Amino acid sequence: MTFQAPKGTFDWMPPRSEWALAVRDALAEPARRAGYGYIETPAFEDTALFSRGVGESTDIVTKEMYTFTSRGGQSLTLRPEGTASVMRAVLEHGLYGGPLPIKLWYSGSYFRYERAQAGRYRHFSQVGAEALGAEDPALDAELIVLAMDGYASLGLRGVRLLLNSLGCKECRPAYRAALQDFLRGLDLDEPTRNRIEINPLRVLDDKRPEVRAQLENAPLVTDHLCGACKAYHEEVRGLLTAAGVAYEDDPRLVRGLDYYTRTTFEFLHDGLGAQSAVGGGGRYDGLSEQIGGPALPSVGWALGVDRTVLAMEAEGLLAERPRGVEVFAVPLGEDARRRVFPLVSELRRAGLAVDMAFGGRGVKGAMKAADRSGARYALILGDRDIEAGAVQVKDLTTADQTAVPLAEVVQFLKGKLS
Ligand code: HAM
Repeated sequence: MTFQAPKGTFDWMPPRSEWALAVRDALAEPARRAGYGYIETPAFEDTALFSRGVGESTDIVTKEMYTFTSRGGQSLTLRPEGTASVMRAVLEHGLYGGPLPIKLWYSGSYFRYERAQAGRYRHFSQVGAEALGAEDPALDAELIVLAMDGYASLGLRGVRLLLNSLGCKECRPAYRAALQDFLRGLDLDEPTRNRIEINPLRVLDDKRPEVRAQLENAPLVTDHLCGACKAYHEEVRGLLTAAGVAYEDDPRLVRGLDYYTRTTFEFLHDGLGAQSAVGGGGRYDGLSEQIGGPALPSVGWALGVDRTVLAMEAEGLLAERPRGVEVFAVPLGEDARRRVFPLVSELRRAGLAVDMAFGGRGVKGAMKAADRSGARYALILGDRDIEAGAVQVKDLTTADQTAVPLAEVVQFLKGKLS
């Protein structure tokens, strides 16, 4: 019997997997430098944390959750996203009693039972950042700038930022009602008509041409914002411009989760086809109260690691080989192997990335392995070298070879590679 990774999942394998690590590090780095602390929460939570049963439901919560009953009879769900978990942890640990905002970042696996396609997986990876407990447009702008800086640090040039405001509990209900009125007058199928009653904003996101054509004159949320929301949004926009971040206003931007208020945004990459969002987020001022906490206005984002690697690939940024080994040792014979082994350990302790030939293959196989490793230098040790107290250092790009005394080889390679 043989096995395959389940549908909608895949394995990160070397050397490409190095890019997943590099992307994760690069996307988290700006947040870490801005004072966001690392949080790690469990991969599963009480189901009710995600399906809160209040407000507007979305597909992620109603159709796409991996929900199971534990042996103890509790309903648990593999986390479809990280924000609810972070909020749960902040409430559980009472962090809201301390200095605010609480700034946290995280990274890990998320699970959604989606229709699998290119760039859309059932198991995927995100880096996220959340700032909890402050209502300050500078915080919204900070997070957006940090995300853009993360993408830029990877060399990505094609990330676009879409920006919107969804209003607050004061102005949102009136907009929702106006939108429902408009949508009820359209020619729509039964499931879409049901959606009007549950989550009318979601209808704006319908991709079918016959629906899109009817939505042209739909009321826009930005025309229904209250004074406070309008002023808040203007401030966010001004701060982004001041920080040199370009954005596109998109009053039809709808997010796939139900907790958003005010600022919402998405990062798109046009090299990805249908699944073009490499990240997204926004403000969620009511989530804390929805799960039994105090008022804790918050904002955050999550960036998709898998899709960011795809975006880099689309921009030709994966051509350069990710970090591999620098030196590959080739012992010729048993005696040489015993001498090379401690030398390899010493080189590694000196900070070099070093591998060696294993498995007692012949010289040809070992040299092939050295080439394949991507190393710059091969260290070759034969009986004659042992007698001479030296090792052959071969530059694999030029094929130049020099004998270096064994006692000096660490210094020699460090000098060459630093
Ligand atoms: P989200 O927009 O659902 O937001 O996901 C954020 C990013 O995760 C997406 O832009 C995409 O890059 C990636 N992603 C989502 N689903 C998949 C999938 N099935 N396959 C591959 N990549 C995927 C959230 O998750 C919110 N928690 C963001 C947030 C944080 N809002 C406030 N704070």
